Amino acid sequence: SAQATEQYLSFAKDVALEAGRMIRKAFEQPRVNNYGRKSATDPVTETDHAVEAYILARIRERFPAHKVIGEESASQTVWTEQPTWIVDPIDGTANFVHRIPMCAVSIGFTVNREYIIGVIYNPILNELFEATHTSSSKLNGQPIHVSDVHDLSSACISTEGGSDRSEAKINWILTNLNRMLNNQVQCVRMMGSCALNLAYLACGRLDVSYERGPHPWDLAAGVLIVRRAGGTVLSGDFDNHSDFELTGGSVLAYTPALAGALLGNVL
Ligand code: IPD
Repeated sequence: SAQATEQYLSFAKDVALEAGRMIRKAFEQPRVNNYGRKSATDPVTETDHAVEAYILARIRERFPAHKVIGEESASQTVWTEQPTWIVDPIDGTANFVHRIPMCAVSIGFTVNREYIIGVIYNPILNELFEATHTSSSKLNGQPIHVSDVHDLSSACISTEGGSDRSEAKINWILTNLNRMLNNQVQCVRMMGSCALNLAYLACGRLDVSYERGPHPWDLAAGVLIVRRAGGTVLSGDFDNHSDFELTGGSVLAYTPALAGALLGNVL
């Protein structure tokens, strides 16, 4: 019901703002080098763990029957029809570690595998992006929309290197950078947060965001925020697009105005 949606949204925003205070406090401390790593290229900090524990505790207290998929605990990795909170305590952990202010907490909520709530909050720049399945996306309370950019020479395209450095992945990245640069796109960015890439696409700062390798918690909130801002979100590979799949390990999101120029050339 509409009332339930409002309750979920205000809960998610409240939790994101409080999580944001934890992230900002840690971010304001001097940069250190003694954080953990999930792999050589994938950092994880005490703050990731503390923020996730905080968010999971809030969810368990308020909605004990709901499922949770969290990046650091991955207590549940199977995405079911059940009401499910999908949480990334810090998306952009490498930026956080380097004290680059492009990191965010991402909270998505799905029921019957439908995206109901999406909240992405960057506590350093104090920007809160939100959407529900029945309302349009907002940034700090103001409605947002994807851009109307329709030519590549005006387009800003964002992608990510990610932490997988296999030969196949590196080749894929380089092939696609080549395609974009040869097609004279205005700019190419790797900003280090999948969730913020989607949020920036939703509010018209970016025109395309694509990546191979993101996880459900990087995507769950952002996919709804892009769609409710008028953007297209797909899965798949270049020249081989399919309906968006949360667990599919890829994302291709863009403003529909650019579809004609993009498809078959860059994507
Ligand atoms: C990662 C970031 C990165 C993207 C990876 C994500 P994390 O999330 O969003 O930009 O390339 O795919 O997993 O580890 O910082 O939460």
